[in-house]
Amino acid sequence: MDTSNLASTLVHRGAEADVSLTTIGPWKVVVKRRVRKAYRNPTLDEQIRHDRTISEASRLHEAKTAGVGVPSIVGVDVENNAIALTKLGSFFDPSANKLGSCTLGALFTGISQLQT
Ligand SMILES: Nc1ncnc2c1ncn2[C@@H]1O[C@H](COP(=O)(O)OP(=O)(O)O)[C@@H](O)[C@H]1O
Ligand SMILES: [Mg+2]
Repeated sequence: MDTSNLASTLVHRGAEADVSLTTIGPWKVVVKRRVRKAYRNPTLDEQIRHDRTISEASRLHEAKTAGVGVPSIVGVDVENNAIALTKLGSFFDPSANKLGSCTLGALFTGISQLQT
């Protein structure tokens, strides 16, 4: 998936990743993006961010299949070293917190964004 064009709000800046909140269709989604570190060799930096992104997604998947209550993976953006996750605590946007207010159009918009 491509997370680069999603309008998002930064909620946490960690040692290696920025965590932002966004919406994809009716869903509230957390995007964790590993950002460039200027002090690292650029080639090595890209490799580290790529490897850690894939590794975190794999570990999250393993934890999920083992029954741990980790977020679900919505998508992995390999190009931008980002993982999109369900937001812990509130899967649906609170403003659309009932299935009744989640329109079919919003669902299709969300699904098409996930597939690109
Ligand atoms: N799926 C999520 N749902 C809700 N909050 C999240 C989610 N992922 C990350 N966060 C928030 O962002 C913070 C940093 O995320 P984390 O994955 O722990 O990054 P780091 O690897 O930098 O520690 C978490 O402590 C939490 O507050
Ligand atoms: Mg942490």
